[in-house]
Amino acid sequence: MVPMSARTIALVTGANKGIGYEIAAGLGALGWSVGVGARDDQRRKAAVERLCAAGVDAFGVPLDVTDDSSVTAAARLIEDQAGCLDVLVNNAAIAGVMPQEPTRTDPATIRTVVETNVIGVIRVTNAMMPLLHRSASPRIVNMSSSVGSLTRQSGPDPEQTAGPVAVAYAPSKTFLNAVTLQYARELSGTKILINAGCPGYVATDLNGFRGVRTPEQGAAIAVKLATLPDDGPTGKFFDDAGVVPW
Ligand SMILES: NC(=O)c1ccc[n+]([C@@H]2O[C@H](COP(=O)([O-])OP(=O)(O)OC[C@H]3O[C@@H](n4cnc5c(N)ncnc54)[C@H](OP(=O)(O)O)[C@@H]3O)[C@@H](O)[C@H]2O)c1
Repeated sequence: MVPMSARTIALVTGANKGIGYEIAAGLGALGWSVGVGARDDQRRKAAVERLCAAGVDAFGVPLDVTDDSSVTAAARLIEDQAGCLDVLVNNAAIAGVMPQEPTRTDPATIRTVVETNVIGVIRVTNAMMPLLHRSASPRIVNMSSSVGSLTRQSGPDPEQTAGPVAVAYAPSKTFLNAVTLQYARELSGTKILINAGCPGYVATDLNGFRGVRTPEQGAAIAVKLATLPDDGPTGKFFDDAGVVPW
């Protein structure tokens, strides 16, 4: 068996750009070895090169979260490379074709968004689970969004606090939050801490760069949840300001 790495090993999905790239940079700045999960060979290679040039111990992990064989191969690559995984950041997501008024959205859009944003997270998490169990302090961070908060969606000013009506993207994050809780319940009593994080409204491809925060600012909550102490929270939903209501 491959000896477990002395370095902390992290995998970030969708790390070739946007918030995921900055999460990889932030974890790399801690001296960690960071797997850059990305589905496109060119984009992955470019991101790894940029991170390495910035001094990060980065390595490429071919990874399409919607593809079983790709995810299985990614787990094998990390096992061969490091023997275990300390931190998994499930960051990859899509918004889906917009606008998404419920009465006018093609069900195929909803299926595609859920396949990536929810089932993709489950697929990757389960493939990495044996490697995470070998870590002394395993952490899972699911990048969610406050647009998935049912409390905010049903509050007095949802347009301001939970974004526009979007029947695929917003419920996909509600679903992801619920899934995060289910994992936390199953994994209670293990060393694994799993939480959901919201990066705020960040200027990235996902929203046509309309966000007001930088990807680096958006990455901060993921770095925080990736570095929780062993007695830290699990099964919770946080942003930079603290707990986000479900
Ligand atoms: N931006 C915001 O304001 C905001 C707010 C709240 C939450 N979030 C969440 O933050 C996370 C990062 O979003 P972002 O704004 O940085 O978006 P982004 O710039 O569009 O980046 C999304 C990343 O996910 C990857 N991806 C998409 N589908 C994939 C798949 N099937 N397999 C592997 N990778 C895949 C993309 O890869 P490609 O380059 O190959 O497409 C890209 O690397 C997401 O979970 C998002 O929901 C963002």
